[in-house]
Amino acid sequence: MSTGKFYITTPIYYPSDKLHIGHAYCTVAADAMARYKRLCGYDVLFLTGTDEHGQKIEDKAREAGITPKQFVDRIVTGERGVLDLWKLMNISNDRFIRTTDEYHVKAIQRIFRRMYDNGDIYKGKYVGKYCKPCESFWTESQLVDGKCPDCGREVVDAEEEAYFFRLSKYAGRVQDLLENTDFLQPRSRVNEMVNNFIKPGLEDLCVSRTSFTWGIPVDFDPGHVVYVWIDALSNYITALGFDNDQYQDYEKYWPADVHFVGKEIVRFHSIIWPAMLMSMGLPLPKKVYGHGWLNFGGEKMSKSRGNVVDPYILAEKFGVDALRFFMLRTFPFGSDGNFTNELLIQTINTDLANDLGNLVSRTTAMVGKYFGGRLPAGSDKWDRPTAEDKDLTAMASGLRDRYEAEMEAFQFQNALEEIFKVIQRANKYIDENAPWTLAKDMAANGPRLAHVLYELLEATRICGILLTPFMPESMEKLFAQIGADETVRTWSSAAVWGALPGEAAPVKGENLFPRIDMEKELAELAKLQAPAEPDIELEPQSQEQVDFDTFCKSDFRAVKVKDCQPVKKSEKLLCFTLDDGTGADRQILSGIAKWYKPQDLIGKTLVAIVNLPPRKMMGLASNGMLISAVHREKGEEKLNLLMVDDAIPAGAKMC
Ligand code: MSP
Repeated sequence: MSTGKFYITTPIYYPSDKLHIGHAYCTVAADAMARYKRLCGYDVLFLTGTDEHGQKIEDKAREAGITPKQFVDRIVTGERGVLDLWKLMNISNDRFIRTTDEYHVKAIQRIFRRMYDNGDIYKGKYVGKYCKPCESFWTESQLVDGKCPDCGREVVDAEEEAYFFRLSKYAGRVQDLLENTDFLQPRSRVNEMVNNFIKPGLEDLCVSRTSFTWGIPVDFDPGHVVYVWIDALSNYITALGFDNDQYQDYEKYWPADVHFVGKEIVRFHSIIWPAMLMSMGLPLPKKVYGHGWLNFGGEKMSKSRGNVVDPYILAEKFGVDALRFFMLRTFPFGSDGNFTNELLIQTINTDLANDLGNLVSRTTAMVGKYFGGRLPAGSDKWDRPTAEDKDLTAMASGLRDRYEAEMEAFQFQNALEEIFKVIQRANKYIDENAPWTLAKDMAANGPRLAHVLYELLEATRICGILLTPFMPESMEKLFAQIGADETVRTWSSAAVWGALPGEAAPVKGENLFPRIDMEKELAELAKLQAPAEPDIELEPQSQEQVDFDTFCKSDFRAVKVKDCQPVKKSEKLLCFTLDDGTGADRQILSGIAKWYKPQDLIGKTLVAIVNLPPRKMMGLASNGMLISAVHREKGEEKLNLLMVDDAIPAGAKMC
């Protein structure tokens, strides 16, 4: 059995109030990897956590009217927060770090000082674009149309005092690491890093800010907070106890065996992080694996694009294991994958309901039907193996090695493909041996039938062991159904054909993966996943000011509706005859037919502006405009005419 330690990490997540399955993707992959390594006998430390500092959080908390700490607490530990999501997805992390944890904060201050003391952090000037009203620095690329992305106002060139990390000093060593070792995988990501970031010239990195406060203060220069990426990347060592007393595992687990990260943050992990470790004289992680994105409708799933898929909805409908399985079975880990509900249901139906589910239910049902639930002693032995026996046995006994090779290369999709080849072979074996025909003459064929069923149980057992890291709960149920106890669920027994005792006693149980009605579920999902419209949407208030004298020129009056008629050939317009207190009728046209029936308005007292220049619409004159309140509700435009108390006489001035 392989032994040793295995330290695996996911990125630490920004607290987001809309966690989606894109977020879960990396964590589920890391969980499958951690469970696989535990199965192999490794002493695993699996770390995940949350990245809780920075200006964005400070701003969002301010908007919500709470402190940044209250804000992050709510999203991390609150209902359906980060911790809840990992529980839902059955994530087996051994440790969870929050960058607001006191021990981490202290450790970051020490780490910052280490790099300052050895001369790799120095004080300089940060030059950027500054928005005075917002007191914020922006980079050129953050500006929107050259203006402040927050308030839309002009920005000015400005400087602030800041600390810098000598990233440039490590450019050569980092390039060598990327080009000449297996540090960064998949290999295709290496060129991108070297050509886009290192070759154009690595500049020193600004590692402190003074324009906001929600961060870890530089202890020897209060007023500066540590740049979030220095704070965040260091989590991988502070969570082991580096520069703190909270944990004592740094010596044991560091360097990490692998950091799993999404492709857009490979840059931080493969350039800045190694340079920081080099600066501190610490060993480098063995590998960084940059996985692809789960896209939805061809674009990265993200809250701002409004195309997120809610893991709670899917897990409730199809089960957590099916969802975990789908993510890793369908998309190659190193590339992007396009999530669709069809693909999810199709994968569940084909692989889990049809292939695996049927294999288990048919086999266990036949042992019940033909042997009363227990195979006779000796059914594991057969001295005249057929070509099909040999084929299935060979495929299943060699499966563990093929699977291991794929898992070691983080090729989850291929590892699962190997398993499903065996499952498909086993289903074919049922048809080849036609147990129902053998059962017609039990006296002659009983032992052969028992062996055929044994072969099926045994192949299922081996597949079940190797599927456990992906679908832990369902495989527990599968083992119970095929009658495989703890001793034959181990990694070593996965390479031993015949480990299941001959007198196996399977129990037909609940359907492990019920078939899904594609059409019905797609329709339901479309409803559930429709982007939620905000309940009430209001027109933003005008920033442009109007001077008082101009405003006073607008003449608003109470008007009484004497008559109201639809306008011929117009779907929108109603034609009002109004008493405006002058003694002469006033005609106003208004595009409100969608919201009002003409007869309902007769006799009402409304408000109109009466000194607009006359307009012609559909050949009719309109002398003024009726005032309405408009807003959107659940995406739909709503309009309400402003109606005032009927006691107000026609012609009363509004001011
Ligand atoms: N806080 C940083 C990471 C710091 S690690 C020292 C961060 N957080 S994040 O919440 O924005 O993203 C966390 C991880 O989720 C990243 O690896 C990111 O790639 C991943 N994903 C977010 N959306 C994703 C998809 N739609 N698909 C796959 N993974 C994606 O970055």
